[in-house]
Formats: sequence, C-alpha cells, structure tokens
Amino acid sequence: MERRLRTDNDRVLLAREANATPYIAMLTVANLLRLERANSIFYYYDDAVIAGFGAWQAVNAQWVEIGPFFNRDAYRGQGLGRRFFRDVIRHLEGEEKSLYAVTKNDAVKHMLEGYGFEPSSVRELPFPLIRHLAARLDLRRVYYGLRKMSSDQPTIHLLKPFPYAKGRIE
Ligand SMILES: CC(C)(COP(=O)(O)OP(=O)(O)OC[C@H]1O[C@@H](n2cnc3c(N)ncnc32)[C@H](O)[C@@H]1OP(=O)(O)O)[C@@H](O)C(=O)NCCC(=O)NCCS
Repeated sequence: MERRLRTDNDRVLLAREANATPYIAMLTVANLLRLERANSIFYYYDDAVIAGFGAWQAVNAQWVEIGPFFNRDAYRGQGLGRRFFRDVIRHLEGEEKSLYAVTKNDAVKHMLEGYGFEPSSVRELPFPLIRHLAARLDLRRVYYGLRKMSSDQPTIHLLKPFPYAKGRIE
C-alpha cells in the first residue's frame, strides 16, 4: 500500500478505468488529487503496475464515508479488493471513527457486513450523513450517475458507528 502515485499517468489511467465501471458514478483526476491532498487514499501496485485504490472522506469530526474503491480488471477476484477494504477500515477504526458506505455493488455489501457494517434505510441515517449526501448532489454527478445506474439495483447504505458492536478487524 502506498500513499502516493508513482506517475501522473497512473492517475489518468485509474480515473479512466474507474469511470468505465457501473458502480462508480464519476471519478476525475481532480477527485484523486483532492483525496491525495487530504491524505485519504491508499494506492496499490503490482510491482511497477498500478492495480487500484481505496479511499475515504471525512463527513465531520465523527463520521467518515469510505470509498471509492477500485481494483483494475486484471487484479480482481484474487482477494486484493478485500485487502483495500480491510486496510481502509482498519486505518479508520484505529482513529475510532464512525463509518459509512453507500453502494450498489453486492460484493461490497457482502464484504462490509462481514466487517460489522449494518444496512440502514436513508430515513434512518444520522443527520450529518444526510447533509453530506445532499451537499454533494451536483447536477453533473446526478446526470452521470443516472446514465450509468439505470439498472434496477438498489442503493445500499451501510453503517458502522463507533463504539463498534462487532466485526472489528484485529
Ligand atoms: C469492488 C472491487 C474493489 C472488489 O475487488 P476484487 O479484487 O474483485 O475483490 P476480491 O477478489 O477481494 O473479493 C471480495 C469479496 O467480494 C465477493 N464477491 C465478488 N463478487 C461478488 C458478487 N457479485 N456478489 C457478492 N459477493 C461478491 C468475493 O467472493 C469476496 O468475498 P469473500 O472474500 O468473502 O469470498 C472490484 O470489483 C472493483 O473495483 N469493482 C468496480 C468498482 C466498484 O464497484 N467499486 C466499489 C464501489 S462502492
């Protein structure tokens, strides 16, 4: 796991490929740079080749949204994606943060439930998370999100508030 990319081209490549997946609404080079400046992204290399990343963003002093996560096609299905999630969750648990995730990807739901996250309806989300979701609803994002996610998969909200009830990663 690395905190910085080795080349600018790796950033361009990740943004392009992550954007092509149905589960990431929109990801730009500028988004990745912002995550790097906030020190809230882990990158993964396979020797010299960039494989993927796991990121997070602070909602307030207590809550953190985990994601996006992206593993390039060639590296999927080998346990590497699980490692991205484990590393990010372990890091944030070490800071005793309350964790939140929103996804349409069943594999992500499966992993997060194993790490002690519980599904929540939108209505039951704590207010800071509602405000956070509302604040990032800009039109461009909604447009790209709707175009990609016209499938019927439901949006799943998952919570792991601190203090953690179960599933803490040792
Ligand atoms: C999500 C992603 C990072 C997972 O990476 P990966 O390397 O394929 O993941 P792994 O091989 O470590 O598998 C992770 C787990 O998901 C499970 N899984 C995979 N596909 C699944 C599916 N369709 N439904 C349920 N579980 C699934 C695997 O069985 C594994 O669980 P296990 O360890 O309990 O067996 C990767 O698929 C990806 O980048 N997808 C596109 C972008 C994306 O969806 N990002 C998340 C947005 S919130």
